[in-house]
Amino acid sequence: MTEAVRATEAILLVGGKGTRLRPLTARTPKPMVPAAGVPFLTHQLERARAAGVERIVLATSYLAEVFEPYFGDGSRLGLQLEYVTEREPLGTGGAIRHVADRLRSAPQDPVLVFNGDILTGLDIRSLLAAHRNSGADVTLHLTRVADPRAFGLVPTDPDGRVTAFLEKPQTPQEIVTDQINAGAYVFRRAVIDSIPADRPVSVERETFPGLLAAGRHLHGMVDSTYWLDLGTPQAFVRGSADLVLGLAPSPAVPDTTADALVLPGAHVAADAKLSGGTVVGAGARIGAGARVHGSAVLDGAVIEEDAVLRDSFIGAGARVGARTVVRDAVIGDGARVGADNELCSGARVWCDAELPPAALRFSSDQ
Ligand code: GDD
Ligand code: MG
Repeated sequence: MTEAVRATEAILLVGGKGTRLRPLTARTPKPMVPAAGVPFLTHQLERARAAGVERIVLATSYLAEVFEPYFGDGSRLGLQLEYVTEREPLGTGGAIRHVADRLRSAPQDPVLVFNGDILTGLDIRSLLAAHRNSGADVTLHLTRVADPRAFGLVPTDPDGRVTAFLEKPQTPQEIVTDQINAGAYVFRRAVIDSIPADRPVSVERETFPGLLAAGRHLHGMVDSTYWLDLGTPQAFVRGSADLVLGLAPSPAVPDTTADALVLPGAHVAADAKLSGGTVVGAGARIGAGARVHGSAVLDGAVIEEDAVLRDSFIGAGARVGARTVVRDAVIGDGARVGADNELCSGARVWCDAELPPAALRFSSDQ
């Protein structure tokens, strides 16, 4: 018998309330916002396919209708894709259970489950191998972060057996480890079937703690490869740049030796300078003397002459006026920022808003 370490099916969680990135882009759900030239979800789909996955069920609730027209049946990516929409968001566990009837795996087979907002270099085959070797009910990818408060804390024993699951720890006493749930799992298929159906369930707050209380085996694989939750606009910009720079590996990014990615149909003035993994979307224009570092400039955006952008997100069709400085900021789709402004430190300009010339400064005038 061959011992292929493989799961043929995966569930991708792309639902929830989905409001946190506003006004990064109001018109596109987060998984479809382009990162390095393709909807973000493409990177996860292609990475799963490269690890041997054949079928992926997208569990959606929020603006679900945008996924299928773009990805279709998945054949363009060499995948079979299915879409299941919840009437109301069912939470992470509820969403997983909701798609169980689409799975073809046998009760003991491994099924991959991915949070849809993660950019990672995880070796999916290693996760499957860890699952097979441990014989666990669920195997979790864990990573280490400096501040675990926004995540699920997952202490393990020396053998990697999970000893607790503490979602979003609130008190210092709860912070017992720097290992967090990285949002990629292998479930024994039968465990998915055991999640209660047709009501909201949090896999983090209910399913995992419940399995542990029942003495079931959860295994954690700590892997410190590239990992980023794209839950904030700043993280999204960082992830986009890291894809271009090749720090975040994705089969959907062909040339990872470049310092910037200029998509077909974009126009960049000869003396403009692009660096730090900047992406310039289709039909976007970068004016003379502009300097753009580590930023995502989406389709059709216009950056006028001598503007300076750094680590920022410029939404589709937005305009940044001449000499305007944008650092660590987000300009929503279709917004217009006049000349000679200065936006820094997490400033967000709402979609379609207009800022007159010389309206805003952050630095002193001396
Ligand atoms: N279909 C569906 N329905 N998907 C959902 C729902 C839902 O009701 N709720 C959340 N999701 C999806 C989100 O789209 C996302 O891809 C994933 O489930 C996780 O939800 P988030 O809202 O992004 O959770 P989080 O980032 O606060 O925390 C989760 O991820 C962390 C790692 O980034 C948890 O799994 C933490 O334990 C983990 O550390
Ligand atoms: Mg998240």
